[in-house]
Amino acid sequence: MKYLITGANGMLASALCPILTERGNEVISTDINAPEMNALDVRDSEGVMSFFRKNRPEVVMHLAAATDMDMCQKNPEDTYAINARGVRNVACACKEVSAEMVYVSTGAVFDGKKDGPYIESDRTNPLNIYGETKLAGEHFLQDILKKHYIFRAGWIIGGFEKDIKFVGKTLELLRTRKELNMVSDRFGSPTCVEDFSRNMLKIVEAGLYGLYHLVNKGGCSRYDMAKKIVNFLGRDDIKITPIRNIDYPSVTPRARTEIMTNHKLQEAGMDDMVSWEKALHNYLEKLKSKKLLDRVMLGDGVA
Ligand SMILES: NC(=O)c1ccc[n+]([C@@H]2O[C@H](COP(=O)([O-])OP(=O)(O)OC[C@H]3O[C@@H](n4cnc5c(N)ncnc54)[C@H](OP(=O)(O)O)[C@@H]3O)[C@@H](O)[C@H]2O)c1
Repeated sequence: MKYLITGANGMLASALCPILTERGNEVISTDINAPEMNALDVRDSEGVMSFFRKNRPEVVMHLAAATDMDMCQKNPEDTYAINARGVRNVACACKEVSAEMVYVSTGAVFDGKKDGPYIESDRTNPLNIYGETKLAGEHFLQDILKKHYIFRAGWIIGGFEKDIKFVGKTLELLRTRKELNMVSDRFGSPTCVEDFSRNMLKIVEAGLYGLYHLVNKGGCSRYDMAKKIVNFLGRDDIKITPIRNIDYPSVTPRARTEIMTNHKLQEAGMDDMVSWEKALHNYLEKLKSKKLLDRVMLGDGVA
């Protein structure tokens, strides 16, 4: 199959693209700021349309997005242009060339008021600009293109050198600090990029269009994740202190819980996602074997 990826220089694509290639697919990688890839800004509707007409992909994996939640909160117009109108531009171009479209959305579409994990049919009510614009993207896609897939991911784990999210940031902090405060009363579903990519492709290859939650099993707080990381590192000298969300300074309102379950996949007997603990452990093992944990395991650099 001929796949086109937007946002191909990002964390998720770093796992997805090699898997697509290893399965013998043709992959056209595009991103906004990556010199080694085709330049494609999803805000540019004419540019997107002409690129699609020229390259005629069969399946488009739309990963491009503004993902820094605080930046999104401070720049709502540009965030809407990327995360919502960008989806519209890509969906219209998919329609023009008869391509299927895959869109990755988020648990930030929920308000966190539910007791228990969210399933696909639960009411959405985002609390921040990122969640609002990603949800608007879902709606554009559902309105424009029949043959679509929407996969809601949780807190992304992975990316190795491109890891700009929680695990990467925590490891970076632990290079120089022995004490960290971590929020313990806000919850989400970690989502490993490899597990996510493989299971997403399974559904796409089976042609099962629709909206899915796709996260590792279980849920946790940032405090829980940080404790697991420190245990893995074997660093008894590091102190992780639980703090309340309300005491964590941020411009972005966040839901108390974004924990999701893969309800539709469970119903179909297709939920092969492992627990978040296993997913995190597997990722840390891979970082270790790539020698990316050496300094932090030794405590080298800690004052
Ligand atoms: N990360 C998470 O925790 C998380 C959770 C749930 C869902 N998701 C969704 O999963 C998808 C992939 O996320 P990710 O974690 O791989 O994020 P990422 O690492 O931030 O990758 C997104 C990529 O999109 C690019 N991009 C930004 N604006 C663009 C534009 N106007 N046109 C084309 N490309 C543009 C970014 O380039 P620059 O870096 O140069 O801006 C980046 O390379 C996104 O749709 C995201 O919303 C992410």
